[in-house]
Amino acid sequence: MARWQGVIRQYQRFLPVSEATPVVTLLEGNTPLVPAPRLGAQLGLDLYLKFEGMNPTGSFKDRGMTMAMSKAVEAGAKAVICASTGNTSAAAAAYAARAGLPCFVVIPDGAVAMGKLAQALMYGARTIQIEGNFDDGLRLVRRLAQEHPEIALVNSVNPYRLQGQKTAAFEVVDALGGYPDFLAIPVGNAGNITAYWMGFKEYAAAGVGAVESCSSSGAPAGAVLPRLLGIQAAGAAPLVNGGEVDDPQTVGTAIKIGRPATRQGAIDAVRESGGAFWSVTDEEMLAAYRRLAATEGVFAEPASCASVAGLIKLSENGYFEGRAGGFIDGTQVPAPEHRPFTGRGGRPKVVAVLTGHGLKDPDTAIRVSVRPEKLPADYGRLERLVLGG
Ligand code: F0G
Repeated sequence: MARWQGVIRQYQRFLPVSEATPVVTLLEGNTPLVPAPRLGAQLGLDLYLKFEGMNPTGSFKDRGMTMAMSKAVEAGAKAVICASTGNTSAAAAAYAARAGLPCFVVIPDGAVAMGKLAQALMYGARTIQIEGNFDDGLRLVRRLAQEHPEIALVNSVNPYRLQGQKTAAFEVVDALGGYPDFLAIPVGNAGNITAYWMGFKEYAAAGVGAVESCSSSGAPAGAVLPRLLGIQAAGAAPLVNGGEVDDPQTVGTAIKIGRPATRQGAIDAVRESGGAFWSVTDEEMLAAYRRLAATEGVFAEPASCASVAGLIKLSENGYFEGRAGGFIDGTQVPAPEHRPFTGRGGRPKVVAVLTGHGLKDPDTAIRVSVRPEKLPADYGRLERLVLGG
């Protein structure tokens, strides 16, 4: 098997790079698509988890950052800057270190998970905590990069970011040998859902993963693309409810965003795909977070588990049987027309994107968990405990 060389080398024919582009990579991508048979059976789904926590800095941001940083170096940038709820700052800091470029990260004071802050500091970024939220930070860094073009902005408003991130959709299709019926994904600044849709469409246009033929129905060959299920936190759900949120709130700090920068891209993607947006409460997100780890052995950060929380909710509401619709930007959309599902046992084949690793946010994990039990170093006591005495 050829050695994995990162997403740019793997998918360069789909990416805006040339032989002259200096590739800055940590060999990101190639993340596992983990089957989730137990949780899937509970929900009536043929369920797979795209575990993006397995990227080099523990989130999907690495896919976008390899592109953004390579293009920044190619363009002769003197430094890079971003605003972040944590994961972008970790990835920017790591890839900037790799590229030998100074990196400035602007994060909301007190609203970034501990692991992410540790990463930005360790990778040597100048880390600036502002008294404001992510949306405030993004406004500041956009202006700074505009007024100082030698400083490259590496947020997802940088188009190269989404180019890199679309490779996750390619990997899903490569792993499944085709397209899932649905893809559930957490939505914050709304870049990633937009990137997945670009990826699915481009792969289909290139004839990858197309349905060979439909002999029974005589339907023409072609790919049936997944419906996108965009899940937001209830306290930060502008794409569900319409409008903007001035003071977003959620335990999923990664998606604590009230003015998504790629709002229109996400709306178009969801609409074209025949999907919808939903919100989940913090309680639902944390319940999914624990259930996923305890049922499938996959530990993803709270915001990531919005995708799974959304699936739990949709399955309970009868969405997959066509009994419940969703929302797009404040407008209700009906339940999708029934179409044959392609998963095992005729169930819907669903991919839930888990955007970041659970270890990013150890504080939340410990807060929602049972305390460790304390014992003296005594064999008898341990034996009694283990045997339930
Ligand atoms: N999940 C995680 C773990 C994230 O870190 C983010 C975004 C998202 C989901 C949402 O993706 O913004 O493309 O809709 N994190 C950004 C950051 C905002 O700064 O790390 P999106």
